[in-house]
Amino acid sequence: MEDKKMKMDTSKSHGKKMGKDDKIKVDAKNLELWYGDNKALNDISMDIFDRKITAFIGPSGCGKSTFLRCINRMNDLISGVTIKGRVDIDGHDIYAPHVDEVAVRKRVGMVFQQPNPFPKSIYENIAYAPLMHDVVKKGSQCDELVEQSLISAGLWDEVKDKLKQPGTSLSGGQQQRLCIARTIAVKPDIILMDEPTSALDPISTEKIEMLMLELKKDYTIITVTHNMQQAARIADMTAFFHLGNLIEYDETETIFINPKEKKTEDYITGRFG
Ligand SMILES: Nc1ncnc2c1ncn2[C@@H]1O[C@H](COP(=O)(O)OP(=O)(O)OP(=O)(O)O)[C@@H](O)[C@H]1O
Ligand SMILES: [Mg+2]
Repeated sequence: MEDKKMKMDTSKSHGKKMGKDDKIKVDAKNLELWYGDNKALNDISMDIFDRKITAFIGPSGCGKSTFLRCINRMNDLISGVTIKGRVDIDGHDIYAPHVDEVAVRKRVGMVFQQPNPFPKSIYENIAYAPLMHDVVKKGSQCDELVEQSLISAGLWDEVKDKLKQPGTSLSGGQQQRLCIARTIAVKPDIILMDEPTSALDPISTEKIEMLMLELKKDYTIITVTHNMQQAARIADMTAFFHLGNLIEYDETETIFINPKEKKTEDYITGRFG
C-alpha cells in the first residue's frame, strides 16, 4: 500500500499516470462544451487508461453524461452544442475535420441507463449492425458472431434456445446484457456506460459488474455511476465532477480513502449531492 502510494505521481490531480506500463487510450485536452449559451463543461483535461475501468461520479447535472458523450461524438447529434478543445483516442483527435463521426461511434460503443433493445429478435439485435456494416456475412459467420457476443456478455446460456424471441421479452438485467452483447458485436475499443445498472435489481447489477471486470481485459470501459460502492468495487480510476468541472481524478482507492479536495470528500461522505 505504502509502496503503491510512493510510486504515484501526486503532483497533479488531473491527467494522472497510473504507472509506466499503462497506456493512455483517451486524452481530453481543455475540453469545453456549451448547450446554447449554457456552459456545461469547463476546461476538462484528463487521460483515460486502456483496459481499465474509469468511473465518473458527481451530483446530478455536473456534466458526467455530457463528457461521456464527447468521447463518441454523440453530442454532435444535439442541436446548439458548441465544443472547444480536443479529445484524442490513440493519439488522434476525434474532432479533427476529416474524421467520420459514425466511424468514431463504431469504435466507441455506448450502453445506456435504460436497456434499449431494438424491436427485433435476440439474434437480430446483435446481427443487425455487423450485417449492415458488412463486418460479417449472413449464415454461419454471423451465427458465430452472435454466439460469441452473447457468450462474452454472459447471456448465451440463458438465451441460446430462444434466439428468435424478441429482445424485449427478456428481463431488464438480461436486456442490459443483450445491449452489451450488441455493443461488443461491432468490435469497439471503448465501451461507454451511462449508469448501466441504475435500473436493475441487485443480482442483475452484480452480474453486470462482474461482466465489466471481465470485459476490461479487452476493452477500455468508462462508466457513470451514482453508486459509490459500485465505483469503489469495480473502477481502477475515479473522476469526480462538480458544476461542469473535473474536481479530482485519481486511483479509486485514493478518491475514496484519501481524497485531496474537500469537495470530493464532502461528496463521497454524502454531505452534498
Ligand atoms: N440536451 C441538452 N440540452 C441542453 N442542456 C443540457 C442537455 N443535456 C444536458 N444539459 C445540461 O448540461 C448540464 C450537465 O448535464 P448532464 O446530463 O451531463 O449531467 P449529469 O452529470 O449526467 O447528471 P445526472 O447525474 O442527473 O445524469 C446540466 O445543466 C443539464 O441541464
Ligand atoms: Mg447523466
